[in-house]
Amino acid sequence: MWTRNVLASIAVTLFAVGVSTVFGQATVAPDCLGCICEASSACNATIGCSVPFPGAYFCGPFLISWAYWADAGKPVLQNDDPNRKGAFENCVNDLYCAAETVRLYLAKFSTDCNGDGTVNCQDYAVLHKLGGYGCTATVVDQDYMAGFNRCTQVVGVI
Ligand SMILES: *[C@@H]1O[C@H](CO)[C@@H](O)[C@H](O)[C@H]1NC(C)=O
Repeated sequence: MWTRNVLASIAVTLFAVGVSTVFGQATVAPDCLGCICEASSACNATIGCSVPFPGAYFCGPFLISWAYWADAGKPVLQNDDPNRKGAFENCVNDLYCAAETVRLYLAKFSTDCNGDGTVNCQDYAVLHKLGGYGCTATVVDQDYMAGFNRCTQVVGVI
């Protein structure tokens, strides 16, 4: 189960992503990234890549697809080449590079998914799961949302 301490250490790791983004527009709070990570994979940094159903390929603690990474602008580990085969896997299996990928993606697609008049972590969580082209859909994976809600209650993120 998630304790405040475990989540705090994830947030500290992810905070570096936030502060390094001087020119970022939408800011996604470190605790918000942490809860999306928890909801996706229990923030398992060694989860690797998997094919949960034919045609799907997800990697890293945020379960990121190649298309998501490409939409985020193909961030890479330092000195890596975004067009090199393996650059995607190396980035999104790294907690820091994966978090940066998510932050870039959420900033790009920043959407009031639930139509409540504000873009907050609830929207970012749905946006991460359903993608920037369909986040107003009401059907969101129940386990994912339950994990996200448990985490936000522990850390107090909105
Ligand atoms: C993380 O995922 C790997 C691969 O699925 C698994 O072997 C490992 O037990 C997981 N770690 C935790 C802490 O759940």
